[in-house]
Amino acid sequence: MSVMLDSALHTAQSYSGTQSGEVGGVQSFDLHPVEEDFRETVLTCLQHQPKAVPAKCLYDKRGAELFVQITQQSEYYPTRTELKILAEHGAEIATHLADGVLVEYGSGSSKKIGTLLDAITNTQRSLPTYVGLDISQQHLVESCEALASQYPGLATVAICADYTQPLSLPEIETLRGKNKTAFFPGSTIGNLQPDEAVAFLNNVAQLVGPGGGLLIGVDLKKDKAVLEAAYDDAAGVSADFALNLLHRINGELGADFDLEQFCYRAFYNEAVGRIEMYIESLIEQTVTVGDAIISFQAGERLLTEHSYKYSPDEFGALADRAGFGMANCWIDDQELFLVAYLVACDK
Ligand code: AVJ
Repeated sequence: MSVMLDSALHTAQSYSGTQSGEVGGVQSFDLHPVEEDFRETVLTCLQHQPKAVPAKCLYDKRGAELFVQITQQSEYYPTRTELKILAEHGAEIATHLADGVLVEYGSGSSKKIGTLLDAITNTQRSLPTYVGLDISQQHLVESCEALASQYPGLATVAICADYTQPLSLPEIETLRGKNKTAFFPGSTIGNLQPDEAVAFLNNVAQLVGPGGGLLIGVDLKKDKAVLEAAYDDAAGVSADFALNLLHRINGELGADFDLEQFCYRAFYNEAVGRIEMYIESLIEQTVTVGDAIISFQAGERLLTEHSYKYSPDEFGALADRAGFGMANCWIDDQELFLVAYLVACDK
């Protein structure tokens, strides 16, 4: 089941009729993205066979906190490895970013953005204009204002929008005529099926335009044991993160999931090149979610997430299908993670 890019449900996001505002040195636009209804999504997904939910359902407040904790586990190498690559190759990466427009997809990875901005400053280049994109207005405004106060003189634009849908930048003076580079760190692209990833990357290519760039973090294929440990850490944070979904459904939708009767499972499906994460029912049981009754077989699984892994060549081919060429790429010594600088081709 395709659960991320349900374009039919959304109307095109545009700036017509929207007001821009200026708060705390940040120019803001709100495209009023349609936020999916959690109840409707969950009920549809639980009544579908096989059961699967969109990964974004995992991120309520507690889910977001647990994800930060995952990134601090010793088994979870992606975050620290990506940061190390950005820091080590900052001077070279800076040559692609200075003096243009840097558009962060999912505002708020302040450590990663900070590493890029510091690298630009350290190589005596002028800072780009920063554009933060996020579906959550509150999160967006907080992270943009924090960044603007941390980097005085950084022109900052906040756009509240759903970046999984086609989108353009506003026609404003600070952005006009400048080279545009999108930034999509964290290997978040791995949550998408390859075809969805191509559609998403193609939207990014449209936004930055021919000659524009995309700096993207991608998790690499590697030893199964290393991958499985990263997604099922010994401290049990990955398990808590997934099972928090049931906790969220109980709290928000008045359901009666007994968390003792479910467990977390993560497998590397080597044939397909992805980690599959599930919540598994330990027994045959029924659960009430609002008015609906959902039954589980013993051992039945609910898919919470895919995390696709690529070889550098596979990712290059995926980018190519989306209209991007891989202009540069950086890999750590242990070959765990890839940061690529892609350039959008002329049409
Ligand atoms: C946020 C999609 C990058 O796939 O590594 C990590 C999500 N889930 N552990 C990843 C995740 C459980 C993460 N991404």
